Amino acid sequence: MTKAPQPLAEVFGHLPAEVINIASVPQRSPFRYPGGKTWFIPRLREWLMTREKKPELLVEPFAGGGIISLTSVCEDLVKSALMVELDKEIAAVWETAVSGEAGWLADRILEFEMNIDNATDEINRRSDSLRDIAFRTIIKNRCFHGGILAAGSGFLKKGEAGKGILSRWYPETLARRFRNIALISEKLEFRHADAFDVLDEYTDKENTVFFIDPPYTAGGKNAGKRLYTHYDVDHNLLFQKCVNLSGDFIMTYDNATEVKELAEKYRLQAKPVPMKNTHHAEMTELVVGRNLDWMEGIDRVLEERVVYSEAT
Ligand SMILES: C[S@@+](CC[C@H](N)C(=O)[O-])C[C@H]1O[C@@H](n2cnc3c(N)ncnc32)[C@H](O)[C@@H]1O
Repeated sequence: MTKAPQPLAEVFGHLPAEVINIASVPQRSPFRYPGGKTWFIPRLREWLMTREKKPELLVEPFAGGGIISLTSVCEDLVKSALMVELDKEIAAVWETAVSGEAGWLADRILEFEMNIDNATDEINRRSDSLRDIAFRTIIKNRCFHGGILAAGSGFLKKGEAGKGILSRWYPETLARRFRNIALISEKLEFRHADAFDVLDEYTDKENTVFFIDPPYTAGGKNAGKRLYTHYDVDHNLLFQKCVNLSGDFIMTYDNATEVKELAEKYRLQAKPVPMKNTHHAEMTELVVGRNLDWMEGIDRVLEERVVYSEAT
């Protein structure tokens, strides 16, 4: 249950600027993630901080890069978080990181000499140990175009300043992010599972909140297919499951007619949030929920390329 929204100046000590620069949001995820929700972090704080009671648990059923769970736990916005992801490669990273092996991953990253030959060898290794899949996934995520792991993706050719695969390889930053995850791993749970099953399991849980960011692209299924291995989601069923949750939830979507119609059908509120993507193209994303009164004003969000730089 949300209470009357607290003035934002009280929550943050100042009023947010019209343009929220994502470069000022701590980047805690080790992933570069297509459709990553860094831009939503200022909103996430508003949503969770204006609640009467700190939620026991945040469930992130489509975790991807996991920025929402990591930030919620690190900033003490919730007591713990459950991350869920179906993709085997992404799952291997989270399983490794939250099961006491984040330090091993950090060391492996620091020891690795990144060049095209070593990266190719690593990616072609057949080993199916969880640790090896996890490390291979990190390499692909950092060195493949757009961080995309889905079939058809491949090495960055030019990258930043013609640096090719080296342009997103920041070993110290990555190692630090994994070590920071180790520090909060007691409050993180990960499940390699289907979001729909976990939603069923948590339907009646009180004082639990859900952040729901399913794969969706207004460009249709083919666009989703390029970004994610698992992209086919029954959105109508997802809405149905969400409205049955005892806990509060937020969904984020592309601003598409189909989504607005679903929100209307299930009597939910939807607010567009203008943002700029990494290529500075104007886009609008939709936030959907039962009650969005806490979203005062709509700030424009600027997602800058610097998000993935060494400094963040
Ligand atoms: C839009 S992305 C989430 C991005 C994430 N919010 C972030 O900030 O990085 C959607 C994710 O859902 C995953 N996914 C797709 N279908 C799923 C399912 N049925 N259960 C769990 N995860 C699923 C995809 O693999 C993808 O990682």
